[in-house]
Amino acid sequence: MNTSASIPNSDAFQPVQTQTWMNGRHVMRCVRVIDETWDVKTFVFAAEQPLMFFFKPGQFVTLELEIEGEQVMRSYTISSSPSVPYSFSLTIKKLPGGQVSSWMHDHMNQGDELIVHGPVGRFNVIDYPADKYLFLSGGVGITPLMSMARWLFDTNSDNNIVFAHSARTPRDFIYRRELEHMDSRVDNLTLHAIVERVDIGQTWNGYRGFIDRDKLALMCPDVLDREVFCCGPEPYMRAVREILQGVGFDMRRYHEESFGEIPAVAEEQALEQAETAQEEHEALAVSDLLSVEFTGSGKSVRIAPGETIHAAATKLGLHIPKACGMGICGTCRVHLAAGEVSMEHNGGITDDEIAAGDVLSCCSVPVGDVSVEF
Ligand code: FES
Repeated sequence: MNTSASIPNSDAFQPVQTQTWMNGRHVMRCVRVIDETWDVKTFVFAAEQPLMFFFKPGQFVTLELEIEGEQVMRSYTISSSPSVPYSFSLTIKKLPGGQVSSWMHDHMNQGDELIVHGPVGRFNVIDYPADKYLFLSGGVGITPLMSMARWLFDTNSDNNIVFAHSARTPRDFIYRRELEHMDSRVDNLTLHAIVERVDIGQTWNGYRGFIDRDKLALMCPDVLDREVFCCGPEPYMRAVREILQGVGFDMRRYHEESFGEIPAVAEEQALEQAETAQEEHEALAVSDLLSVEFTGSGKSVRIAPGETIHAAATKLGLHIPKACGMGICGTCRVHLAAGEVSMEHNGGITDDEIAAGDVLSCCSVPVGDVSVEF
């Protein structure tokens, strides 16, 4: 076979004409709502005009909602894959007392609009390429791993994947049929599942109980050779970390994601920081204070060293949108017009955005007088 004749030259390709999204604020329309289990729904979103949703499988978006007159921001990982790029989906479990998840289940219907920030996040298979992966998920923490599995499956990758999911009962096993379908179609994806309990009327042939060292050894005997991605409730991830550390796993190859706890933790930390800053502020000489000017509103404030740009804005009654409060989601990104900051982010901003002068206000501390476009 003449291979040179079968490979088209670059003249045979056209650049993509359809617009693609970038990290930012987007208006989306819900185009479908799918019942995944009794308390989990998938919401599929698309743009008004044809738009391709490229993102790294495992990344997340932040929803900007208005609930009972208040702006609420909440982050969710994308459950679909960029291999199906004309829409993207979020799979959300209705949590008891969960303000946003309940609102989504009760009020978000086909045809409704929604504001979305993102996509962002370092928890993805593109940034951590490996020949062999172990995906570990607990409950609705399956969503980013499903995005990764769908991507690797759809693109016919030859990466070896062991996907081990833990669910409460068989009826809580999200995406069960789709994962079984993938497992049956290719020999480089192996599915395992553990359920906590089996109720009357249900049948189950998989593992029972909780993930532990013995089960992990049975499901994935070559775990030490794999890149591990883990997402689930904190107790689940803690158990996974302990198991991996116990078998001598190189934790530099372990990646985890949990959103459920983040807003509360971040809020607590922010409050503590604000209180400490307030005490320190009172003891500081005026000359130690730093000036933060907001050019859009023409307002400025003097803050103590260590306080963030977001805290400075809040003192002035300026509401820079904020969700995670710890440099993950990118919601609070602003442009620095002058001055310098020290920014300790967690992947919520790209190198290009930093090079363009943007900063995440929730985790950026001025190192002198600064001027911010807001
Ligand atoms: S609020 Fe999420 S990065 Fe600042």
